[in-house]
Amino acid sequence: MDVLTWGRSPWGEWVLTHISWDLLWASLFGGVAFLLAHASYMVLSAHRKRDAAETDRLEEARQDLPARIPRHSLAARVFHWVMAAAMFVLLLTAFLPIVGVRFAWVTWHWIAGLVLTSSIVFHIVHATVWLDFWSIWVGPKDIPEFKAEVLRELGRDASGPKPGKYPLGNRLYHLVIVVAGLGVVTTGLFMMVRIRTPFFTRNPYLLGDATWGVTYVAHGMAGVALVGLVMAHVYFAVRPEKWWITKSMLLGWITRRQYLEPPDPQRWIAR
Ligand code: HEM
Repeated sequence: MDVLTWGRSPWGEWVLTHISWDLLWASLFGGVAFLLAHASYMVLSAHRKRDAAETDRLEEARQDLPARIPRHSLAARVFHWVMAAAMFVLLLTAFLPIVGVRFAWVTWHWIAGLVLTSSIVFHIVHATVWLDFWSIWVGPKDIPEFKAEVLRELGRDASGPKPGKYPLGNRLYHLVIVVAGLGVVTTGLFMMVRIRTPFFTRNPYLLGDATWGVTYVAHGMAGVALVGLVMAHVYFAVRPEKWWITKSMLLGWITRRQYLEPPDPQRWIAR
């Protein structure tokens, strides 16, 4: 399997041009392998769930909580779905031509690219000013939580820290998607200089051939990584036990029962 594609510059030097499109298939394969591995694990492992009678008792005791608990503000939901739509348009316009579906993809691609870029800028400002900025980040401080979560997953009663609004897996996923997302956005904005847009006169000489090659390779690498990452995200969103979270991304709220049902008391405070 090839990883990179090389070409000759007008001066006869070998320079990078693109990633090899074999990587697209590798990412798709990785995504499917992950889904199968996770789905098998979920079937075979004994998963803890608070039983219905215990949840009934908890619900009875926590009548102080509202019947519908807000989880995602309207602004957060609009951001999520605009970003999701832009992401799908970007993936389809980038990869359909590679698998042989020919159409004028570049215009749709950069327009969706600008929508994605704007939604990310909005998200950064919104998360910094209005949301609990640090609740989504992950770092060495989370190692005790990681150890405790592994033990709990193995069915043991671990006393270590419990997850907050976002479980450890979600925070790790967010970190990876931030790296890949910022990767496609920064390289994509540079690449717009090379194509015809209404904003400026195209200038393919802004960077040297070798630097353009590295930029296209970085864009392609981050792009194919997003194929597997988006597959994993959609898979979790449609899994039956996560459906209540997906629904809250549409409606904005969860029920009191859904808030109380997870086996460990939730640390996030509804707002
Ligand atoms: C999910 C996110 C994205 C994916 C999967 C993706 C994927 C791709 C791929 C595979 C290519 C072809 C690269 C090559 O020929 O080596 C490409 C080209 C390009 N992308 Fe993206 N991209 C994404 C986001 C963006 C964003 C955010 C922008 C702009 C802000 C953008 C702008 C461009 C431009 C201008 C080109 C070059 C077209 C050309 O030179 O013909 N992309 N993209």
